[in-house]
Amino acid sequence: MDHERKVLFVSSECAPYAKTGGLADVVAALPKTLRMMGHDARIVIPLYSSIDRTRYGIRFDRSCCVHMGRGEEQWVGIYFAILDKQVPVWFVDCERFFGRPGIYHESWGEYGDNAFRFALLSKAAMQICKDLNFIPDVMHVHDWPTSLACVFLKTWDKILSPLSNTASVLTIHNIGYQGVYHPGAFSYFGIGEEHWNPAEFEDHGKINLLKPGIHFSDALTTVSPTHRDELLSPLGGQGLAPMLHDRQADLFGILNGVDYEHWDPEHDPLIPAKYCRRDMQGKVVCKEALQRRFGLEVRGDVPIFGIVSRFAQQKGFDLLHDVLPRALNGMMLQVVVLGSGDKHTEDFFQDLARRYSGRVGVHMGYNDEVSHWIEAGSDFFLMPSIYEPCGLNQMYSLKYGTLPIVRATGGLNDTVENYDEGSGRGTGFKFWDISADALYYTVGWANSTWWDRPQHILSMRKEAMSREFRWEASAHEYVKVYEHAIRKRRGD
Ligand code: ADP
Ligand code: GLC
Repeated sequence: MDHERKVLFVSSECAPYAKTGGLADVVAALPKTLRMMGHDARIVIPLYSSIDRTRYGIRFDRSCCVHMGRGEEQWVGIYFAILDKQVPVWFVDCERFFGRPGIYHESWGEYGDNAFRFALLSKAAMQICKDLNFIPDVMHVHDWPTSLACVFLKTWDKILSPLSNTASVLTIHNIGYQGVYHPGAFSYFGIGEEHWNPAEFEDHGKINLLKPGIHFSDALTTVSPTHRDELLSPLGGQGLAPMLHDRQADLFGILNGVDYEHWDPEHDPLIPAKYCRRDMQGKVVCKEALQRRFGLEVRGDVPIFGIVSRFAQQKGFDLLHDVLPRALNGMMLQVVVLGSGDKHTEDFFQDLARRYSGRVGVHMGYNDEVSHWIEAGSDFFLMPSIYEPCGLNQMYSLKYGTLPIVRATGGLNDTVENYDEGSGRGTGFKFWDISADALYYTVGWANSTWWDRPQHILSMRKEAMSREFRWEASAHEYVKVYEHAIRKRRGD
């Protein structure tokens, strides 16, 4: 039996309050699971002005004073709510830094003071612990925005002394974002000049906020076993592989889970009809409804390839720009897309929908309901990522019997089993090379399986729907990492 541990999650995102991607889903689901296992997990995030206080029952608790560098004292408001009837969440209200609708940016570009904003968040999290007398065994921080907390814990001063035993765990969700900013922010952190060096903060004359987390955390995780190994390679480490090599004994790969309370076609309130592997009739209804909603020709016999994604380079859109017109010209298939981001990709899909009207449907923007409709109504799900630390959508797709077509990278490799044409087994279609041809032929392979071997599609669907990635299993792994970090922190 594990010790009951106190764990504070400090993050820039947490669903449903503030989300740009999977990070928010993880930060909501993992603490919930840890609490069900008897641990006292809580969360700290910023109170962005876009968070609806009334809707989520967020109320003012107290003010607190956060001591930053340059002798600056920043008063912040601490607000409080309970997430999913279970997890205490503290929100840091600071008009100067968080009184804006965006998390990192707005449509015109990235905020110029992100290093200041998230340094304040990281330090405020500690002040909250002290003022509310919640002394965590572990502070679990996520990606570059809260990586600074690992430094603050190690360079604690009298103000933060109650946290001298608190261990830190940094999860790297996406090493493609490292928080590289102008060095002018360094003095705001209130950390000695001796830490300004390439092993801790400096990155070619700039600040790299992920580096101190890698250097100072007691343990590190990333979100799949395959990606753990990728991070140690020059390409996968995106410049930080040497630092990660030095920490490899403390680096663990733990697959994300799925919150099946929200992602299960048998109980999903957002989709047009429910279904399960014993009775798939509802999926036919969902497909027809999806075709109508996206203005596609209503045909049960033609397969739909779905996409739900941030339009970022990481997700393999360069390949899709090449492959989709070729596939639409040469194969009988339909495509539905939900997403937003990179302008060039948005234009590409708008144009595709015009050129292939009735066969391609596009919804630009972020929409939870539409994402559930696509998972339920599509036959295949496209995720040709260049890199994918874990990926959640392919796991959702499996549960909805929508077979993923993935590049075998990171979590995509760990969660999808490739189709074996001889036996008909597998849960999806994989390719390895980062090349348009590799993707094109894999789409073709899936499409020909649909038309020529429908019985294989049916059996793969059933197999896919029975695969589960429960948070309980991952949370057990995290608890082991917490114990590892605590031992390191206490010098055992
Ligand atoms: P990443 O975090 O790199 O974006 P993940 O697959 O881990 O990738 O998580 C993406 C999450 O964001 C999923 O929950 C997915 O459903 C959601 N998502 C992405 N784009 C949209 C969108 N346009 N509308 C609704 N949900 C979206
Ligand atoms: C990142 C990764 C994604 C992962 C998510 C949650 O944004 O790109 O692969 O699933 O974080 O860990």
